[in-house]
Amino acid sequence: MDPAAPLLFFDSGVGGLTVLQPTRALLPNAPIVYFADSAGFPYGARSEADIAKRVPALLAPVVERFHPRLVVIACNTASTIALTTVRAALDLPVVGTVPAIKPASEMSKSRVIGVLGTQATVRQPYVDDLAARFAADCTVIRHGSPELVELAEAKLAGVAVSVEAVRAAVQPLFDAERAREIDVVVLACTHFPLLDEELRAAFPGVALTDGGPGIARRIAFLTRDQSWPSEPSPGIALFTGAAPGGPLLHSLARFGLEDVRTP
Ligand code: DGL
Repeated sequence: MDPAAPLLFFDSGVGGLTVLQPTRALLPNAPIVYFADSAGFPYGARSEADIAKRVPALLAPVVERFHPRLVVIACNTASTIALTTVRAALDLPVVGTVPAIKPASEMSKSRVIGVLGTQATVRQPYVDDLAARFAADCTVIRHGSPELVELAEAKLAGVAVSVEAVRAAVQPLFDAERAREIDVVVLACTHFPLLDEELRAAFPGVALTDGGPGIARRIAFLTRDQSWPSEPSPGIALFTGAAPGGPLLHSLARFGLEDVRTP
């Protein structure tokens, strides 16, 4: 394995940064390419057929260009819909991001769990399957919140996001029957941990969990015998849409992405 071969992260926007961050903590010298389909954002409003076709088609030329050692689909929507098609299309290891229902079930005392994702993610049979396998004795209440995705993008673009706005975007989850008993919420969209602080302030007493740290451990495990450069290097960020503005460039730099490119 060429030590310079990067890890390639993919999301519709900035959500995948919440998977990149714990990965960087474990593998600080890993070369990074972060690929955001900002022209296709938001994925939560797209159809299954569209996502299953779009994601592998976008990834193939980027894989060809950067020769990553591994691809991380750092997006629950794309993973729950297109993981199989992406794996079939690419000849390298692909790690997906799926709702952290298993850890939530291990944490919950009330046996009532909330799953907060995009509209597309929460309706996936993949989620039914995770709930049946890992939380069969739990009531699993789901809510798709496009507003919360937008708030996370806004926060990274330097817009002030209030706790009230976050509370309003999530409140429908807690309006469902038995929802007052929810003691753990799965952040089943990679954008949502970007609002961790606001979510904790809005819903104190409810534990939050997401897949990021587990995926980082999985990436470290899969690459355990591979070599890395001896120094960290500036990460590359590629956007399919318009060039990011100043505040977003600043946010990307905080995640180690200093070389920002647009088509
Ligand atoms: N970050 C993505 C996810 O994990 C998608 C958000 C969107 O584009 O709607 O689901």
